[in-house]
Amino acid sequence: MIFTNLIQTNLRTNQFGKQIEYYQQLESTNLESWELIEEDYASNGTIVITDNQYKGKGRGNNSWFMSPSKGLAMSLLITEPISIEDAELIPIATGVAVARALENRGVVPQLKWPNDILIDGKKCGGILCESKVSKSIVQKMVIGIGININEKRNDFPEEIMSSSTSLSIEAGHSNQRELVCAIITTFLENLFEDLNSSIPAWENYCSHLGNKVTFKHNDADHTGIFKGLNEKGHALIDIENETRSFQSIILK
Ligand code: BTN
Repeated sequence: MIFTNLIQTNLRTNQFGKQIEYYQQLESTNLESWELIEEDYASNGTIVITDNQYKGKGRGNNSWFMSPSKGLAMSLLITEPISIEDAELIPIATGVAVARALENRGVVPQLKWPNDILIDGKKCGGILCESKVSKSIVQKMVIGIGININEKRNDFPEEIMSSSTSLSIEAGHSNQRELVCAIITTFLENLFEDLNSSIPAWENYCSHLGNKVTFKHNDADHTGIFKGLNEKGHALIDIENETRSFQSIILK
């Protein structure tokens, strides 16, 4: 059970989270968000949240596992038009908002390009932003956030057990999911005031700044030194003394 009044009590926002749509179970909060947008039922900043997301979507056709009643699965809906430049910075800003929220709960989070949330080198959360573009403007956007909050080690499926962690494993105590949701939403609304400020903030949380990274691009493996983000929020990587920018690569 998620108590939406607990989210509302802890929000310090003007607009984000004023409308909250809670479901006991859902296939995916992102999928439901698009349905609400289609029905014109959601105002800007609406939160869609569930206690049991049974078919969560991850990046690149992956699935996202959520332990019912323990994890946090939420989507934040942007229903007002935004420029493509601003939209590109939103996943970066969301990573920063999540990292700040976890830090606020007493752990030391790190971000791995593009926006894996790690604690102690293990995955604690992920972000999936989806958008509808027309006339060179992002008309609608769904910001999906999944975080492992109160899972114990054996709550994770075997195949991700060794690479996953949760806030409670790392902090040593359980956390109220509603509070974490409210803190993320508050930090995110703040970052929307100045999306560019999320670039240096993201770099400060980066787990691999200045390190050698490997990734696939155009079907070939590449290795280089991760230098940070450019003003568009794209990854800057030095490959054989040339700095190149990449928008959609996944690091190994
Ligand atoms: C990743 O692959 O790292 C991104 C995972 C994103 C999962 C979240 S959970 C809430 C929202 N709804 C979904 O179906 N996916 C995102």
